[in-house]
Amino acid sequence: MTKKKRVYINTIGCQMNVYDSGQLMTILKAHGFQETHEVEQADLIIVNTCAIREKAVQKMASFIGRFAGLKQKKPDARMVVAGCVAQQQGKKIIERFPYVDVVVGTHAFRRLPALLEDRELRAAPVVDISMTKDIEKTDSRTLLRHHQTNISEFVTIMRGCDNFCTYCVVPYVRGPEISRSPEDILSEISVLVESGMKEVTLLGQNVNSYGMKEGLCTFPELLKKVNEIDGLERIRFVTSHPKDLSPELIESFGRLEKLCRHIHLPVQSGSDRILKRMNRRYTAGAYLDKIRRLRQTAPDMALTTDIIVGFPGETEQDFYQTLELIRQVEYESLFAFEYSDRPDAPARRFKDKVEPPEKNRRLRELFALQESITRNKQEAMVGRTVEVLVEGESKKQQKQKYPINEASTELTGRTGGNRIVNFSFGLDCNLDINNLKGQTIQVRIEKAFSNSLWGIPVGMEFTSRQNKGGYVHVA
Ligand code: 5AD
Ligand code: SF4
Repeated sequence: MTKKKRVYINTIGCQMNVYDSGQLMTILKAHGFQETHEVEQADLIIVNTCAIREKAVQKMASFIGRFAGLKQKKPDARMVVAGCVAQQQGKKIIERFPYVDVVVGTHAFRRLPALLEDRELRAAPVVDISMTKDIEKTDSRTLLRHHQTNISEFVTIMRGCDNFCTYCVVPYVRGPEISRSPEDILSEISVLVESGMKEVTLLGQNVNSYGMKEGLCTFPELLKKVNEIDGLERIRFVTSHPKDLSPELIESFGRLEKLCRHIHLPVQSGSDRILKRMNRRYTAGAYLDKIRRLRQTAPDMALTTDIIVGFPGETEQDFYQTLELIRQVEYESLFAFEYSDRPDAPARRFKDKVEPPEKNRRLRELFALQESITRNKQEAMVGRTVEVLVEGESKKQQKQKYPINEASTELTGRTGGNRIVNFSFGLDCNLDINNLKGQTIQVRIEKAFSNSLWGIPVGMEFTSRQNKGGYVHVA
């Protein structure tokens, strides 16, 4: 028997890339490859790239650069550049890094096995950045034979974006918006549930406009169908565009018991003038109104957002309006970025750029404000009992050498509001901890940290739908 070739994938960027890398790995496994986490051992090295900000592109370049030497030592090893930067730069990547074997764009990555064969036949680098109008159909069952299912998984419901925010490269590198059919999505989720998934995160650049163009069902209708899948415990989704957040979607948070009370709603700026220049097509007032309605429907709604500081033309006053909006909304947490010029994106041509040190000062000021809000919110959780979907060993536990159950054990999970909760069991607990994975349990919060909470499971009564009435004993 010939030895299986080993593949290593480095994923840079958003959840969409994480999903694509998972699909890529599954396809390669179906073609006889096996996964390795040691890059030096790999016969095939793939970097799935992100073009959203210049820093992500630099990360790709330094990764590819590091492995020039490896190619010399191991001439049979192959290197693939996939995803958004591949799409954007095409053969320029080969010009800059001649030892790269295959460049595969966002619409072509499923063809990678054939492209690798092509590379061998031609004994020259291969570039495929063709874009298609269709969205691929997934044969979920075949793919799953090669997939290790986690408690929580991503499922893409649409690709591309038609919004053309002036700073953003996505519509150019991922192409126009296109939705998968509800049947395809539901079948993928059902198969994942059968193999152990409890929580699904539906992915799209703008999930709120799901199905509109194709006349499929609406996003709230899709959520309702997903909610009906037996054995699925939780539903999440990212990302929503505020302009398309409909009253029906807001109502879904009140109606669908599996839909987590958390929404990531990128605001980008609190200044109407800047929002207009960004082509976001809503005002800060309209955004705040939607937040009010969300909180009326679900008072415990957790909110997170994305913000860009130092967009061209952003004055101190515009920036203070952003800080003011953050104070008003009180997000659980947020992602904030300094504006970065992108090739293709129209804002690149705006003349009134904000200087880098000023962008950086604004970013630090914004983070300081959010840190104090997050700290207060985290501390307010102490003493409360929360429902946690157990995902596995905590990061701390994973780093420790002793096996699970041999000493005090720390597991991890998340609340519906997406807070990370770690919790421990004592040495003398006679509980089958491995069994807890995938269960929803009650945890009393004892300590708050900036990115996580720590607690002790209470009552020991499983609240999982599958385990109604089941008890475990903890000494
Ligand atoms: N510069 C800085 N941040 C950006 N984002 C998108 N494009 C840029 C850019 N050119 C941010 C937005 C978006 C998140 C995914 O990345 O906040 O919501
Ligand atoms: Fe980019 Fe705007 Fe589309 Fe989001 S909605 S992917 S920010 S163009």
